[in-house]
Amino acid sequence: EKGGHEYFMLKEIDEQPEALANTLRGHFEAGRIILDEQRISDQDLRDVDKVFVVACGSAYHSGLVAKYAIEHWTRLPVEVELASEFRYRDPVLDRDTLVVAVSQSGETADTLEAVRHAREQKARVLAVCNTNGAQIPRESDAVLYTHAGPEIGVASTKAFLAQIAANYLVGLALAQARGTKYPDEVAREFAELEAMPAAVQKVLSTVDQVRDLGRRISDSKAVLFLGRHVGFPVALEGALKLKELAYMHAEGFAAGELKHGPIALVEEGLPIVVIMPSPKGRAVLHSKLVSNISEIQARGARTIVIAEEGDEAVRPFADELIEIPAVPTLLQPLVSTVPLQVLAAEIARARGYDVDKPRNLAKSVTVE
Ligand code: F6R
Repeated sequence: EKGGHEYFMLKEIDEQPEALANTLRGHFEAGRIILDEQRISDQDLRDVDKVFVVACGSAYHSGLVAKYAIEHWTRLPVEVELASEFRYRDPVLDRDTLVVAVSQSGETADTLEAVRHAREQKARVLAVCNTNGAQIPRESDAVLYTHAGPEIGVASTKAFLAQIAANYLVGLALAQARGTKYPDEVAREFAELEAMPAAVQKVLSTVDQVRDLGRRISDSKAVLFLGRHVGFPVALEGALKLKELAYMHAEGFAAGELKHGPIALVEEGLPIVVIMPSPKGRAVLHSKLVSNISEIQARGARTIVIAEEGDEAVRPFADELIEIPAVPTLLQPLVSTVPLQVLAAEIARARGYDVDKPRNLAKSVTVE
Protein backbone atom coordinates (compact mmCIF):
# COMPACT_ATOMS: atom_id res chain seq x y z
CA GLU A 1 0.00 0.00 0.00
CA LYS A 2 3.00 2.30 0.49
CA GLY A 3 4.09 1.37 -3.02
CA GLY A 4 7.57 0.28 -1.96
CA HIS A 5 8.08 3.34 0.22
CA GLU A 6 9.05 3.19 3.87
CA TYR A 7 6.44 5.84 4.75
CA PHE A 8 3.20 7.11 3.25
CA MET A 9 4.63 10.62 3.34
CA LEU A 10 7.46 9.63 1.00
CA LYS A 11 4.96 8.03 -1.35
CA GLU A 12 2.80 11.14 -1.20
CA ILE A 13 5.77 13.38 -2.00
CA ASP A 14 6.34 11.22 -5.09
CA GLU A 15 2.69 11.48 -6.08
CA GLN A 16 2.79 15.27 -6.35
CA PRO A 17 3.02 15.52 -10.15
CA GLU A 18 -0.08 13.34 -10.42
CA ALA A 19 -1.87 15.28 -7.67
CA LEU A 20 -1.28 18.52 -9.56
CA ALA A 21 -2.34 17.10 -12.92
CA ASN A 22 -5.52 15.63 -11.43
CA THR A 23 -6.37 18.90 -9.71
CA LEU A 24 -6.09 20.85 -12.95
CA ARG A 25 -7.86 18.31 -15.14
CA GLY A 26 -11.26 19.32 -16.45
CA HIS A 27 -11.10 22.85 -15.07
CA PHE A 28 -10.44 24.60 -18.36
CA GLU A 29 -13.02 23.72 -20.95
CA ALA A 30 -14.10 25.65 -24.05
CA GLY A 31 -11.77 28.47 -23.12
CA ARG A 32 -13.13 28.95 -19.60
CA ILE A 33 -12.08 28.09 -16.06
CA ILE A 34 -14.82 26.08 -14.37
CA LEU A 35 -15.40 25.23 -10.71
CA ASP A 36 -16.80 21.89 -9.50
CA GLU A 37 -19.88 23.31 -7.83
CA GLN A 38 -21.19 26.85 -8.16
CA ARG A 39 -24.28 27.82 -6.23
CA ILE A 40 -23.69 31.54 -6.76
CA SER A 41 -24.42 33.43 -9.95
CA ASP A 42 -21.75 34.62 -12.38
CA GLN A 43 -22.95 38.14 -11.60
CA ASP A 44 -22.27 37.63 -7.89
CA LEU A 45 -18.80 36.36 -8.71
CA ARG A 46 -18.25 39.46 -10.85
CA ASP A 47 -19.38 41.71 -8.00
CA VAL A 48 -16.81 40.39 -5.54
CA ASP A 49 -14.76 43.33 -4.26
CA LYS A 50 -12.60 41.68 -1.61
CA VAL A 51 -11.23 38.20 -0.97
CA PHE A 52 -10.33 36.52 2.31
CA VAL A 53 -8.53 33.20 2.33
CA VAL A 54 -9.08 31.41 5.64
CA ALA A 55 -7.33 28.19 6.62
CA CYS A 56 -5.01 26.56 9.16
CA GLY A 57 -1.45 25.25 9.03
CA SER A 58 -0.15 24.29 5.62
CA ALA A 59 -3.48 25.16 4.01
CA TYR A 60 -2.97 28.70 5.36
CA HIS A 61 0.47 28.77 3.72
CA SER A 62 -1.13 27.77 0.41
CA GLY A 63 -3.31 30.86 0.76
CA LEU A 64 -0.31 33.08 1.48
CA VAL A 65 1.30 31.81 -1.71
CA ALA A 66 -1.85 32.37 -3.77
CA LYS A 67 -2.36 35.93 -2.56
CA TYR A 68 0.45 37.11 -4.86
CA ALA A 69 -1.19 35.55 -7.92
CA ILE A 70 -4.80 36.40 -7.11
CA GLU A 71 -4.07 40.08 -6.46
CA HIS A 72 -1.93 40.29 -9.57
CA TRP A 73 -4.52 38.66 -11.81
CA THR A 74 -7.72 40.15 -10.39
CA ARG A 75 -6.65 43.49 -8.88
CA LEU A 76 -8.81 42.57 -5.88
CA PRO A 77 -7.46 42.99 -2.35
CA VAL A 78 -6.76 39.56 -0.84
CA GLU A 79 -6.29 38.98 2.87
CA VAL A 80 -5.08 35.63 4.11
CA GLU A 81 -5.97 34.76 7.63
CA LEU A 82 -5.67 31.94 10.11
CA ALA A 83 -9.18 30.59 10.52
CA SER A 84 -8.85 30.62 14.31
CA GLU A 85 -8.06 34.35 14.27
CA PHE A 86 -10.53 35.38 11.57
CA ARG A 87 -13.50 33.96 13.40
CA TYR A 88 -13.00 35.93 16.59
CA ARG A 89 -11.86 39.23 15.10
CA ASP A 90 -15.14 40.64 13.76
CA PRO A 91 -13.84 40.81 10.17
CA VAL A 92 -15.50 43.26 7.77
CA LEU A 93 -17.67 41.09 5.52
CA ASP A 94 -20.63 41.67 3.23
CA ARG A 95 -22.31 40.07 0.23
CA ASP A 96 -19.53 41.23 -2.09
CA THR A 97 -16.85 39.51 -0.03
CA LEU A 98 -15.58 36.14 -1.21
CA VAL A 99 -14.22 33.93 1.54
CA VAL A 100 -12.07 31.09 0.22
CA ALA A 101 -11.90 28.31 2.82
CA VAL A 102 -8.99 25.97 2.12
CA SER A 103 -8.99 22.59 3.85
CA GLN A 104 -7.62 19.20 2.86
CA SER A 105 -9.93 17.31 5.20
CA GLY A 106 -12.88 19.67 4.90
CA GLU A 107 -13.55 19.02 8.58
CA THR A 108 -11.13 21.37 10.36
CA ALA A 109 -13.15 22.93 13.16
CA ASP A 110 -11.64 26.41 13.01
CA THR A 111 -12.07 26.64 9.26
CA LEU A 112 -15.64 25.36 9.45
CA GLU A 113 -16.50 27.95 12.11
CA ALA A 114 -14.94 30.66 9.95
CA VAL A 115 -17.16 29.52 7.05
CA ARG A 116 -20.27 29.67 9.24
CA HIS A 117 -19.38 33.10 10.54
CA ALA A 118 -18.76 34.40 7.01
CA ARG A 119 -22.09 33.08 5.75
CA GLU A 120 -23.94 34.64 8.70
CA GLN A 121 -22.46 37.96 7.56
CA LYS A 122 -23.77 37.26 4.01
CA ALA A 123 -20.33 36.75 2.49
CA ARG A 124 -19.99 34.18 -0.32
CA VAL A 125 -17.93 31.16 0.55
CA LEU A 126 -15.88 29.07 -1.84
CA ALA A 127 -14.34 25.86 -0.50
CA VAL A 128 -11.08 24.38 -1.75
CA CYS A 129 -11.16 20.86 -0.40
CA ASN A 130 -9.61 17.43 -0.94
CA THR A 131 -12.47 15.37 0.51
CA ASN A 132 -15.69 14.84 -1.39
CA GLY A 133 -18.80 15.69 0.56
CA ALA A 134 -16.98 16.93 3.68
CA GLN A 135 -18.66 19.47 5.93
CA ILE A 136 -16.87 22.59 4.68
CA PRO A 137 -17.79 22.08 0.98
CA ARG A 138 -21.34 21.13 2.03
CA GLU A 139 -21.77 24.49 3.74
CA SER A 140 -20.16 26.55 0.96
CA ASP A 141 -21.62 28.41 -2.05
CA ALA A 142 -19.02 27.08 -4.45
CA VAL A 143 -16.48 24.27 -4.38
CA LEU A 144 -13.24 23.44 -6.11
CA TYR A 145 -11.91 20.01 -5.23
CA THR A 146 -8.21 19.27 -5.08
CA HIS A 147 -7.76 15.79 -6.49
CA ALA A 148 -4.64 14.90 -4.55
CA GLY A 149 -6.11 11.55 -3.50
CA PRO A 150 -6.16 10.40 0.11
CA GLU A 151 -3.33 11.82 2.19
CA ILE A 152 -2.33 9.50 5.00
CA GLY A 153 0.89 11.03 6.28
CA VAL A 154 -0.04 13.55 8.96
CA ALA A 155 2.17 16.21 7.39
CA SER A 156 0.56 17.71 4.32
CA THR A 157 2.58 17.36 1.10
CA LYS A 158 0.64 16.54 -2.07
CA ALA A 159 -2.50 18.20 -0.68
CA PHE A 160 -0.49 21.38 -0.12
CA LEU A 161 0.73 21.54 -3.72
CA ALA A 162 -2.78 20.77 -4.95
CA GLN A 163 -4.16 23.56 -2.74
CA ILE A 164 -1.82 26.07 -4.34
CA ALA A 165 -2.92 24.96 -7.82
CA ALA A 166 -6.61 25.10 -6.86
CA ASN A 167 -6.23 28.54 -5.28
CA TYR A 168 -4.66 29.69 -8.55
CA LEU A 169 -7.67 28.36 -10.44
CA VAL A 170 -9.89 30.40 -8.11
CA GLY A 171 -7.81 33.46 -9.00
CA LEU A 172 -8.17 32.76 -12.71
CA ALA A 173 -11.92 32.17 -12.36
CA LEU A 174 -12.24 35.57 -10.66
CA ALA A 175 -10.04 37.27 -13.27
CA GLN A 176 -12.18 35.75 -16.01
CA ALA A 177 -15.44 36.83 -14.32
CA ARG A 178 -14.16 40.36 -13.76
CA GLY A 179 -12.50 40.69 -17.15
CA THR A 180 -9.13 41.64 -15.65
CA LYS A 181 -7.58 38.93 -17.84
CA TYR A 182 -8.47 38.34 -21.47
CA PRO A 183 -9.48 34.79 -22.38
CA ASP A 184 -6.15 34.16 -24.14
CA GLU A 185 -4.27 35.30 -21.02
CA VAL A 186 -6.30 32.95 -18.84
CA ALA A 187 -5.51 30.17 -21.32
CA ARG A 188 -1.81 30.98 -21.14
CA GLU A 189 -1.76 30.97 -17.33
CA PHE A 190 -3.59 27.65 -17.32
CA ALA A 191 -1.09 26.20 -19.80
CA GLU A 192 1.76 27.29 -17.51
CA LEU A 193 0.08 25.51 -14.61
CA GLU A 194 -0.28 22.41 -16.78
CA ALA A 195 3.48 22.37 -17.29
CA MET A 196 4.10 22.13 -13.54
CA PRO A 197 3.66 18.37 -13.01
CA ALA A 198 6.66 17.81 -15.31
CA ALA A 199 8.69 20.45 -13.45
CA VAL A 200 7.88 18.80 -10.09
CA GLN A 201 8.86 15.42 -11.56
CA LYS A 202 12.22 16.92 -12.44
CA VAL A 203 12.74 18.06 -8.85
CA LEU A 204 11.86 14.60 -7.59
CA SER A 205 14.65 13.10 -9.65
CA THR A 206 17.21 15.09 -7.62
CA VAL A 207 16.10 14.26 -4.08
CA ASP A 208 19.07 12.02 -3.24
CA GLN A 209 21.25 15.08 -2.79
CA VAL A 210 18.68 16.62 -0.42
CA ARG A 211 18.43 13.42 1.61
CA ASP A 212 22.18 13.30 1.97
CA LEU A 213 22.15 16.89 3.18
CA GLY A 214 19.33 16.08 5.60
CA ARG A 215 21.40 13.34 7.21
CA ARG A 216 24.38 15.67 7.53
CA ILE A 217 22.45 18.41 9.35
CA SER A 218 20.16 16.16 11.38
CA ASP A 219 21.84 16.97 14.70
CA SER A 220 21.45 20.74 14.37
CA LYS A 221 19.69 22.56 17.20
CA ALA A 222 17.66 24.77 14.90
CA VAL A 223 17.17 25.66 11.26
CA LEU A 224 16.03 28.99 9.84
CA PHE A 225 14.30 29.53 6.49
CA LEU A 226 14.38 32.76 4.49
CA GLY A 227 12.44 33.83 1.43
CA ARG A 228 10.95 36.84 -0.26
CA HIS A 229 7.77 37.34 -2.29
CA VAL A 230 6.27 33.88 -2.96
CA GLY A 231 9.40 32.39 -1.38
CA PHE A 232 8.36 33.79 2.01
CA PRO A 233 5.35 31.47 2.54
CA VAL A 234 7.52 28.63 1.22
CA ALA A 235 9.97 29.43 4.03
CA LEU A 236 7.10 29.25 6.53
CA GLU A 237 6.01 25.90 5.11
CA GLY A 238 9.56 24.49 5.20
CA ALA A 239 9.85 25.49 8.87
CA LEU A 240 6.47 23.97 9.74
CA LYS A 241 7.42 20.65 8.12
CA LEU A 242 10.64 20.53 10.12
CA LYS A 243 8.94 21.38 13.42
CA GLU A 244 6.22 18.79 13.07
CA LEU A 245 8.36 15.94 11.71
CA ALA A 246 11.78 16.43 13.27
CA TYR A 247 10.69 18.22 16.49
CA MET A 248 13.37 20.77 15.76
CA HIS A 249 13.16 24.46 16.35
CA ALA A 250 12.58 25.99 12.94
CA GLU A 251 11.41 29.40 11.83
CA GLY A 252 10.64 31.02 8.52
CA PHE A 253 11.29 34.70 7.94
CA ALA A 254 10.80 37.23 5.19
CA ALA A 255 14.40 37.88 4.18
CA GLY A 256 13.78 41.62 4.26
CA GLU A 257 13.12 41.35 7.99
CA LEU A 258 16.58 39.96 8.78
CA LYS A 259 18.00 43.30 9.84
CA HIS A 260 14.92 44.00 11.95
CA GLY A 261 15.71 41.24 14.40
CA PRO A 262 16.29 37.69 13.20
CA ILE A 263 19.91 38.27 12.15
CA ALA A 264 20.74 38.32 15.86
CA LEU A 265 20.01 34.56 15.88
CA VAL A 266 22.77 33.80 13.39
CA GLU A 267 25.73 31.96 14.87
CA GLU A 268 28.53 29.71 13.69
CA GLY A 269 27.23 26.63 11.92
CA LEU A 270 23.50 27.46 12.09
CA PRO A 271 21.87 26.02 8.95
CA ILE A 272 19.83 28.64 7.09
CA VAL A 273 17.78 27.59 4.09
CA VAL A 274 17.28 30.36 1.54
CA ILE A 275 14.71 30.18 -1.24
CA MET A 276 16.04 32.25 -4.15
CA PRO A 277 13.78 33.96 -6.66
CA SER A 278 14.64 33.59 -10.34
CA PRO A 279 17.56 35.85 -11.37
CA LYS A 280 15.69 36.63 -14.60
CA GLY A 281 12.10 36.72 -13.35
CA ARG A 282 12.75 38.86 -10.26
CA ALA A 283 16.17 40.40 -10.72
CA VAL A 284 15.74 43.09 -8.03
CA LEU A 285 14.61 40.65 -5.37
CA HIS A 286 17.31 38.22 -6.45
CA SER A 287 20.10 40.71 -5.86
CA LYS A 288 18.63 41.70 -2.47
CA LEU A 289 18.63 38.06 -1.42
CA VAL A 290 22.18 37.55 -2.62
CA SER A 291 23.25 40.34 -0.29
CA ASN A 292 21.19 38.81 2.56
CA ILE A 293 22.97 35.50 2.05
CA SER A 294 26.39 37.10 2.02
CA GLU A 295 25.53 38.79 5.34
CA ILE A 296 24.46 35.61 7.08
CA GLN A 297 27.36 33.64 5.63
CA ALA A 298 29.79 36.29 6.90
CA ARG A 299 28.33 35.71 10.38
CA GLY A 300 29.03 32.00 10.22
CA ALA A 301 25.72 30.54 9.01
CA ARG A 302 25.81 27.37 6.94
CA THR A 303 23.86 28.48 3.87
CA ILE A 304 21.60 26.01 2.11
CA VAL A 305 20.39 27.65 -1.06
CA ILE A 306 17.48 26.59 -3.24
CA ALA A 307 18.03 28.32 -6.56
CA GLU A 308 17.07 28.15 -10.19
CA GLU A 309 19.35 26.06 -12.44
CA GLY A 310 22.10 28.22 -13.87
CA ASP A 311 21.92 30.85 -11.12
CA GLU A 312 25.66 31.60 -11.08
CA ALA A 313 25.47 34.75 -8.95
CA VAL A 314 24.40 32.86 -5.87
CA ARG A 315 26.97 30.05 -6.09
CA PRO A 316 29.79 31.73 -4.12
CA PHE A 317 27.44 32.18 -1.15
CA ALA A 318 25.92 28.71 -1.16
CA ASP A 319 27.58 26.21 1.17
CA GLU A 320 25.00 23.75 -0.17
CA LEU A 321 23.22 24.38 -3.45
CA ILE A 322 19.96 22.70 -4.40
CA GLU A 323 18.87 23.42 -7.95
CA ILE A 324 15.29 23.63 -9.14
CA PRO A 325 14.02 24.08 -12.71
CA ALA A 326 13.28 27.56 -14.06
CA VAL A 327 9.52 28.19 -13.92
CA PRO A 328 7.37 31.36 -13.92
CA THR A 329 7.87 33.29 -10.67
CA LEU A 330 4.34 32.85 -9.33
CA LEU A 331 4.59 29.08 -9.83
CA GLN A 332 7.98 28.63 -8.18
CA PRO A 333 6.50 27.49 -4.83
CA LEU A 334 5.26 24.35 -6.56
CA VAL A 335 8.87 23.31 -7.15
CA SER A 336 10.74 25.01 -4.29
CA THR A 337 8.57 23.40 -1.59
CA VAL A 338 9.48 19.86 -2.66
CA PRO A 339 13.12 19.81 -1.46
CA LEU A 340 11.96 21.27 1.88
CA GLN A 341 9.49 18.39 2.34
CA VAL A 342 12.22 15.86 1.55
CA LEU A 343 14.67 17.62 3.85
CA ALA A 344 12.26 17.57 6.82
CA ALA A 345 11.36 13.91 6.24
CA GLU A 346 14.99 12.86 6.00
CA ILE A 347 16.06 14.79 9.11
CA ALA A 348 13.19 13.17 11.01
CA ARG A 349 14.18 9.70 9.79
CA ALA A 350 17.80 10.30 10.74
CA ARG A 351 16.61 11.26 14.23
CA GLY A 352 14.61 8.05 14.41
CA TYR A 353 11.07 9.45 14.26
CA ASP A 354 7.96 8.07 12.58
CA VAL A 355 7.48 10.39 9.64
CA ASP A 356 3.83 9.45 9.12
CA LYS A 357 2.75 9.92 12.71
CA PRO A 358 4.50 12.82 14.40
CA ARG A 359 3.90 13.03 18.13
CA ASN A 360 0.95 15.04 19.48
CA LEU A 361 -0.57 15.65 16.03
CA ALA A 362 -3.78 14.43 14.41
CA LYS A 363 -4.47 14.36 10.68
CA SER A 364 -7.77 16.13 11.04
CA VAL A 365 -8.28 18.72 13.79
CA THR A 366 -11.97 18.65 14.54
CA VAL A 367 -11.87 20.57 17.81
CA GLU A 368 -11.15 24.29 18.10
C1 F6R B 1 0.85 20.47 8.26
C2 F6R B 1 -0.55 20.06 8.25
C3 F6R B 1 -1.55 20.90 8.96
C4 F6R B 1 -2.81 21.09 8.12
C5 F6R B 1 -3.90 21.86 8.92
C6 F6R B 1 -5.14 22.12 8.11
O1 F6R B 1 1.66 19.56 7.59
O2 F6R B 1 -0.88 19.05 7.68
O3 F6R B 1 -0.99 22.14 9.30
O4 F6R B 1 -2.49 21.75 6.95
O5 F6R B 1 -4.22 21.14 10.08
O6 F6R B 1 -5.78 20.92 7.76
P1 F6R B 1 -6.90 20.91 6.68
O7 F6R B 1 -6.28 21.28 5.36
O8 F6R B 1 -7.44 19.50 6.67
O9 F6R B 1 -7.95 21.90 7.08
